[in-house]
Amino acid sequence: MSHDTTQQNRQRNHFAGHDAIWLFGYGSLIWKADFPYLERRPAHIHGWVRRFWQGSHDHRGTPEAPGRVVTLVREPGAVCHGMAYRITPEVLAPLDVREKNGYLREVITLGFDDDAGGHAEGLVYLAGADNAAYLGDAPLDAIAAQIAAAHGPSGPNRDYLLHLAEALRALEVEDEHVFALAARLPGERD
Ligand code: BEZ
Repeated sequence: MSHDTTQQNRQRNHFAGHDAIWLFGYGSLIWKADFPYLERRPAHIHGWVRRFWQGSHDHRGTPEAPGRVVTLVREPGAVCHGMAYRITPEVLAPLDVREKNGYLREVITLGFDDDAGGHAEGLVYLAGADNAAYLGDAPLDAIAAQIAAAHGPSGPNRDYLLHLAEALRALEVEDEHVFALAARLPGERD
């Protein structure tokens, strides 16, 4: 099940004419910043939670046995912490390809968590419930079992989850959903 969003994202030039853009990372972008950036700052967004509800048929799973990766789900009053990167616009093209399986660029207001604080408008990649690779909610045990079993061209799905949990701990971010799933992986404990 694939839904290539690369072309759609190329049309989503929300910050056309800007020399630099803030990009909010809440998943693999936190621990896999394999792109050039001008600076990075811990940051948060309001009204969203991180959930392993998006299928991965191209990175952490296969079309026959998809894995699960994170997307954002609306939850009034919630705060989702991650990492913001200031990038030049050219950096988005390879990210559009890397995150092509259902993720669309959306504009979001982010708040910075460092001492300097402040806010900025930025971009986030979001996979909505209407995309073809969306899997949605399931019992935590079932999600963890799917992640434990899945493997794709980018490696085991469990590594994605464990890297994310480790990166969030390093940022001193509490994320019950992520930590509960990591604790359910065979060989892992809370
Ligand atoms: C992120 O880490 O922000 C991210 C997650 C999924 C797709 C693209 C980006």
